Amino acid sequence: MFFKTSTLLLAIVALAAAAPSSGIAPSASLIHFMMHSQSLRTATTLNMNCFDWYLPILKGHSDKYEENYKVCAEEFNAAKWLIDTSYGIARNGITSKAKETCDALERCSHEDESSDVFECYSKTAPEYSVILNTIGNNSTDLNKQLIAELAVIDFDLDVCQTKAERVYKEDSADSFEELNACLEDENWSQPIPSV
Ligand SMILES: *[C@@H]1O[C@H](CO)[C@@H](O)[C@H](O)[C@H]1NC(C)=O
Ligand SMILES: *[C@@H]1O[C@H](CO)[C@@H](O)[C@H](O)[C@H]1NC(C)=O
Ligand SMILES: *[C@@H]1O[C@H](CO)[C@@H](O)[C@H](O)[C@H]1NC(C)=O
Repeated sequence: MFFKTSTLLLAIVALAAAAPSSGIAPSASLIHFMMHSQSLRTATTLNMNCFDWYLPILKGHSDKYEENYKVCAEEFNAAKWLIDTSYGIARNGITSKAKETCDALERCSHEDESSDVFECYSKTAPEYSVILNTIGNNSTDLNKQLIAELAVIDFDLDVCQTKAERVYKEDSADSFEELNACLEDENWSQPIPSV
């Protein structure tokens, strides 16, 4: 007699619930298992003891993956904050030069007589245009350097996430293989926990 469809459905729902929710590919292991598991398709009994035993193990791999994935993001955010902060002095310096420029030009408009206004602009504008030019050049240079530093930690994040994914795929593939063997073994009994 084939096991009830509802039992199979329950098993699949439970398996899906034990899969990670963040990241991308990991649940591929689950789909692969469901599509290739001979026992899921042909077994006449579905040994629910196997699920009782392997679901928490699969959930454990999934939780470990989520945790590692979270650590990757935390490390990335901390490194990003440090990089951004390290440009604080340069950023404030440029901002204060920009303010100084605006203030100097603004002051010209407060002169009473037109001739004084013109004289003020004619003196102030060339002086500050050099500073504005430097602001532009410095900002270009700083941003290039900053973007290069961010690219390094982007790469680190990618390496970290890939590693977490690989560990999960390997661990869960092993567990799915064991679950499969369990489902095919009518005499399977829960291993005695070694302390
Ligand atoms: C531009 O950079 C140079 C060299 O780092 C620095 O001496 C200068 O003060 C900077 N100027 C501004 C407006 O940020
Ligand atoms: C800013 O950069 C341009 C182009 O590289 C250069 O021609 C100019 O002299 C620089 N200005 C300053 C103030 O360093
Ligand atoms: C399960 O155990 C029974 C009784 O010990 C045995 O006859 C049978 O061959 C076993 N089945 C498998 C798949 O090992």
